[in-house]
Amino acid sequence: MPLNELDIFADILAFHVEAGIDVALGEAPVDRFKESAAEASARAATRPAPAVPAARPAPASPPRPVSEPRRAAPAQPAAPAMNMAAPPPPDVATVEARDAALSAPTLEALRAIVEGFDGCPLKHTATRLVFSDGNPLARLMFVGEAPGRDEDIEGKPFVGRSGKLLDRMMAAIGLDRTGAYIANVVPWRPPGNRTPTPQETAICLPFIRRQIELANPDILVCLGGPSAQTLLGIKDGITKARGRWVEYETGTRTIPALATFHPAYLLRTPLGKRMAWRDFLAISKALGELPRTTSS
Ligand code: URA
Repeated sequence: MPLNELDIFADILAFHVEAGIDVALGEAPVDRFKESAAEASARAATRPAPAVPAARPAPASPPRPVSEPRRAAPAQPAAPAMNMAAPPPPDVATVEARDAALSAPTLEALRAIVEGFDGCPLKHTATRLVFSDGNPLARLMFVGEAPGRDEDIEGKPFVGRSGKLLDRMMAAIGLDRTGAYIANVVPWRPPGNRTPTPQETAICLPFIRRQIELANPDILVCLGGPSAQTLLGIKDGITKARGRWVEYETGTRTIPALATFHPAYLLRTPLGKRMAWRDFLAISKALGELPRTTSS
């Protein structure tokens, strides 16, 4: 029987939803990976200068050597100046994010600061902030890339299908969400689950770095290549980089960090579970061997 027009539209819509394209943002597509310097500075020219002080140098992606001086957390929470008009150009937003993040003395303060931050365009397309789940006092912290649709609805990281798999992987080493703190490099869902642009990631990086510093875990686990590349400075693909311990400088101390496969990858590639299981055994062993510095 020939399909009528409505059936065809319904099929196309269903295809888009399955592909993660479930929000309509505009009539014409925008390639944000290709925003030119000229466009960025044109936008900058229409915007007042940021009302925050000059920034520290950008945190390098690779972990800092242990011998470098440690950075003390400022004593006073200071609400960052937010610009509610045109979004700032990415380099300005990154500086604002860095200063705002550094001003947070606690995780609660940081959450409030991120909630009020307007410098990342993803905030305006996401339903809500996806800041964290699990136990902020846990010795183990997982960091993924960015929330998906289910996370955007619930406001918590890793609650969809890949989150359920992460729960099962944790259970396999005797942990549940009371034994881990969970966050993402980017705390807002990119529309249609697209990859965050390098600019969006750069803007959000100071927040996740501060979140790790304040949570102060004994072990950091990056879920997937993008998280490992952003936080650990790993250049290799995840297949090569996974399972290798590196050092991560939180800002107050150096902790061991490991990259492993993202659960979403494991859902697509079940053969990878064997390697991921090895990684989780290594995490469990390290938790047993490392001196306990947190209360949970
Ligand atoms: N994938 C991620 O990287 N993070 C989530 O929170 C969910 C899926």
